[in-house]
Amino acid sequence: MPLCPMRQMLDEARKAGYGVGAYNVNNMEQIQAIAQAARETASPVIIQASKGALEYTNLVYLKHLMAAAVEENADLPICLHLDHGPNLELCKEAIGIGFTSVMIDGSIDYDKKTPEGKHPARSFEDNLRATKEVADYAHARGVSVEGELGTLGGIEEETHADKVLLTDPAQVEEFVRRTGVDALALAIGTSHGAYKFKHEPVLAMDLISQCRERAPECAFVMHGSSSVPKELVDEVNKYGGRMPNAMGVPIASIQEAIRRGIQKINVDTDGRMAVTAAIRKVFIEKPGEFDPRKYLGPAREALTKLIASKMRDFGTAGHAGDYKRKTLDEMKKFYGKK
Ligand code: G3H
Ligand code: 13P
Ligand code: ZN
Repeated sequence: MPLCPMRQMLDEARKAGYGVGAYNVNNMEQIQAIAQAARETASPVIIQASKGALEYTNLVYLKHLMAAAVEENADLPICLHLDHGPNLELCKEAIGIGFTSVMIDGSIDYDKKTPEGKHPARSFEDNLRATKEVADYAHARGVSVEGELGTLGGIEEETHADKVLLTDPAQVEEFVRRTGVDALALAIGTSHGAYKFKHEPVLAMDLISQCRERAPECAFVMHGSSSVPKELVDEVNKYGGRMPNAMGVPIASIQEAIRRGIQKINVDTDGRMAVTAAIRKVFIEKPGEFDPRKYLGPAREALTKLIASKMRDFGTAGHAGDYKRKTLDEMKKFYGKK
């Protein structure tokens, strides 16, 4: 599958000053919608799958759905990325089926015996060791790697019941140098899901600028970047949903984060909401409808529109033809020389 390495995609974005959305997928309609939005707006794009997505799709289906998206969009830079890889084992599996990028979430110890959501935070040195192990394995194969310093709210917040650990800029230079990561997720106060804030969001924007000074060539990643737009919340609720007080990161804050040095912007929740709102609408307005194409089709359309608009907002639109995609062999040589 001729996918684009994430390292190249984010280097290009950093030099030109725009952000690239990384959109989570679990099924064919989501992959089609993201590819269609990238085509319509001529955008490079990162399609990402979590551990849960790999389990849901049984890996092999995801692999072939992605191959179809790439075959249909040969001229678009598309990267396939593992989101929140818990360990080397899963990173190896993802690389084995052709992912051009993996995230190792070394900030948390996802041991097998601890129940989901209760895993403890890892020390700096343990995070560094786990991340370097993955980076060495991936780079030998030309695959890009994202690490994480600090922790997010949402899926990670139960782990640190009373506190979210923001990234410490003083650790960034050493972490990037010793692990060799291509991208680093910064914890600046965002969290996963639809209920990120109780009041007006306050994000640690200065922290991005401080990290940028300490690691000028590393790509930075913002997780938990869904905006949870009011129109979408209203639409879900109008058609029988119940999402009270949902709140996300305003687009203007994401644009400021991009200006300060973020290149990869992770979005899952907004996509889920667009799909849910569209399906709910059909179910309420046409209760006699039972052909899945009649609700999955509108869901796919709504998702395409949402993502195309993010591609314009993040500044990704129009950059698909800026560079020639590097092969994993070229990337292997690049890492070999470092
Ligand atoms: O970071 C989390 C993403 O939203 C993926 O969520 O683990 O439910 O697939 P998931
Ligand atoms: P949202 O829940 O804000 O969409 O964040 C998704 C994410 O960070 C995936 O890694
Ligand atoms: Zn995330």
